[in-house]
Amino acid sequence: MRTQVAIIGAGPAGLLLSHLLAQGGVDSVVLETRSEEYVAARIRAGILEHSSVELLESAGLGARLRAEGDEHRGIYLQWPGERHHLDFVNLTGRSVWVYGQTEVQKDLIAARRAGGQEIHYEVGDVVLHDVSTDRPHVTFTDKSGQAVRLDAAVIAGCDGSFGPSRAAVPAAKTFEKVYPYSWFGILADVAPSTDELIYAWHPDGFALHSMRSATVSRLYLQVPNGTDPASWSDDQIWDALATRLGHGQNGWKLTPGKITDRSVLPMRSYVQTPMRHGNLFLAGDAAHIVPPTGAKGLNLAIADVALLSKALVARFREHDARLADAYSDAAQRRVWRCTHFSWWMTTMLHTSGDPFDAELQLSQLRWVASSEAGATGLAENYAGLPINY
Ligand code: FAD
Ligand code: DHB
Repeated sequence: MRTQVAIIGAGPAGLLLSHLLAQGGVDSVVLETRSEEYVAARIRAGILEHSSVELLESAGLGARLRAEGDEHRGIYLQWPGERHHLDFVNLTGRSVWVYGQTEVQKDLIAARRAGGQEIHYEVGDVVLHDVSTDRPHVTFTDKSGQAVRLDAAVIAGCDGSFGPSRAAVPAAKTFEKVYPYSWFGILADVAPSTDELIYAWHPDGFALHSMRSATVSRLYLQVPNGTDPASWSDDQIWDALATRLGHGQNGWKLTPGKITDRSVLPMRSYVQTPMRHGNLFLAGDAAHIVPPTGAKGLNLAIADVALLSKALVARFREHDARLADAYSDAAQRRVWRCTHFSWWMTTMLHTSGDPFDAELQLSQLRWVASSEAGATGLAENYAGLPINY
């Protein structure tokens, strides 16, 4: 089997890359270990920044997002006794959209199916070969267990943090920070108790009130690493959320509902550089992980793919390798900005039990909420930097 670009991974990075390459006249084949149903149902990120929305729209993927997504002007920042709205539109002219990664994934699957994209789901034993030569290839077993060889000019590693691509970059420099807490996330069949997201600092730990639609809420609690999601009763979860989100504060109420999904997500920052080795290019979680507090993971994957698709189209269609040669450095500039922002949001909002740290966090929160310069800094990063930052 032969193609121009072998894409490993059918998450948002891999599918969006196949879509943008097809629009630019470049062929690809996508390999995915999971089933189509599984990748379409995974519950993950929920916020699209301004430039991600623009990119999806310009790629013809914006119709359902505009119809069913929800545009938000900003977020609430809160700590006991205080809740402040940061209006990103007033501060930066940019909004964000609530539209689940699950929906982005479904839109991408539908678009690729309509485009006749070759995607092999439920593959096994994926191995990258000779990526530093001009004859790279991938071997795998297909759904029926048959051994297959896929030859390509380029391999795109879009296989997330557990895939084989990142290890195929020898002598890569890696940076990692593991945080001493996790997020306990729930999905609930209940109308959100807020019009925009609430990021809450509390002595018991961070809490976030997000949403998926007018009838579905998404909420998160800071919990110790290793927490078993089954070890909390529904009442314990709603009580902790009510306390941390300020139920009763200035008459605000958190309405509980039926919990339909629960999971615990450990938090870490990870950056691998370079994001290219020979004819292997990494994009998305394959090259970097951010803790979720800044809502950057999905947006960063989209931004990488925007750069990489342009670079590969220029290389295949115009025989111009300059953008491909510049890809890793260009992508890393945004990666480090988002890595810093995600670390900053995380360390400002999660409690460690240290009273000195708590006072610094509260001082920082008061400054961000009351100073236009402070608020604008957060807004610029959260609503997202331009795609060519
Ligand atoms: P992925 O979505 O991980 O896609 C990689 C794909 O590669 C997967 O489909 C995987 O099955 C496939 N794959 C793996 N190994 C192989 C192989 N050997 N061969 C072929 N395919 C392979 N971000 C936020 O901003 N907010 C959140 O709340 C949030 N929650 C998250 C919860 C979880 C459990 C996880 C894992 C991530 C979360 N993220 C969140 C991060 C965000 O979802 C990711 O940044 C985003 O999915 C990155 O997209 P990607 O395509 O690079 O990687
Ligand atoms: C969601 C996830 C985030 O990481 C975040 O910062 C905001 C919202 C969400 O899943 O809705």
